[in-house]
Amino acid sequence: MAKSLLKLSDLSKAEVRAFLNKADQLKFEQKNGIKHKILEGKTLAMIFSKASTRTRVSFEVGMYQLGGHALFLSANDLQIGRGEPVEDTARVMFRYVDGIMIRTFKQQEVEDLAEFSGLPVINGLTDYAHPCQALADLMTIREQFAYLEGLNACFMGDGGNNTCNSFIVGCVLSDMNITVGCPKGYEPHPDVLKWAGDKVKISHDPKEAVKNADVVYTDVWASMGQEDQRKIRLEALKDYQVNMDLLKLASPDVIVQHCLPAHRGEELTAEVFDKHAKVIFDEAENRLHIQKAIMAILMG
Ligand code: CP
Ligand code: NVA
Repeated sequence: MAKSLLKLSDLSKAEVRAFLNKADQLKFEQKNGIKHKILEGKTLAMIFSKASTRTRVSFEVGMYQLGGHALFLSANDLQIGRGEPVEDTARVMFRYVDGIMIRTFKQQEVEDLAEFSGLPVINGLTDYAHPCQALADLMTIREQFAYLEGLNACFMGDGGNNTCNSFIVGCVLSDMNITVGCPKGYEPHPDVLKWAGDKVKISHDPKEAVKNADVVYTDVWASMGQEDQRKIRLEALKDYQVNMDLLKLASPDVIVQHCLPAHRGEELTAEVFDKHAKVIFDEAENRLHIQKAIMAILMG
């Protein structure tokens, strides 16, 4: 098993399945009042350079439920925010804690933190990837359909964002078919396209992309750090909104996924959100169970 979770393409198919299976088990145990102190006495440092609701709360609650302690560290209040090298921060962390979760901009910072700390490092979102989210998405899809292999997934919207990059890799590692519906210039990261090869389909026609989809996934059109390009991005992506008309082309049993936070009236309509809210909030809940599985496996 990998030592850290930096990006999903570092994992094998069996490792992805191990995270999903562990999360299912921990969810069942939590719902049935079975307590487990797998991480008793252990500490997770959580470094945030961007805002968060789900990631922050689910890691903190998850760590508590596993018997350990989570430390919230805003990058603004750490010396790293004033230019202390990541190498030095990593070496110091190694002396204090048992694992690090980090949400930041550059993927390289996460990779460096893992290399220099020698600790299990969990990527809680970078501009490039959101692996914890993709694992929670796969867990949710498997709960709905009971299997993943052969399902048709469609990511609609900003194909180049972190959530889409990781979802593509997660689908390929789960033997799902994945199509990305996005405008020209909003395709997934070149490294992801190279890694996935002909296993990912890119379509610039939203109607073609959504055809027969069992899962339709969307995310915001302007991610954190892209606020200054918001107007341009909203204009470029407006034909890729997930609305009721578009969903008519998907499978009759389609489920809609959104990592949240959602912008109703932009990447999806309020009507679509409300109709699919149950599964979207299951997906948010599953962040807790998957984070617990990740920590139990990497830090246990
Ligand atoms: N989906 C997700 O990562 O949510 P937060 O930004 O609230 O953590
Ligand atoms: N793509 C979004 C995901 C938020 C969880 C962002 O990076 O802002």
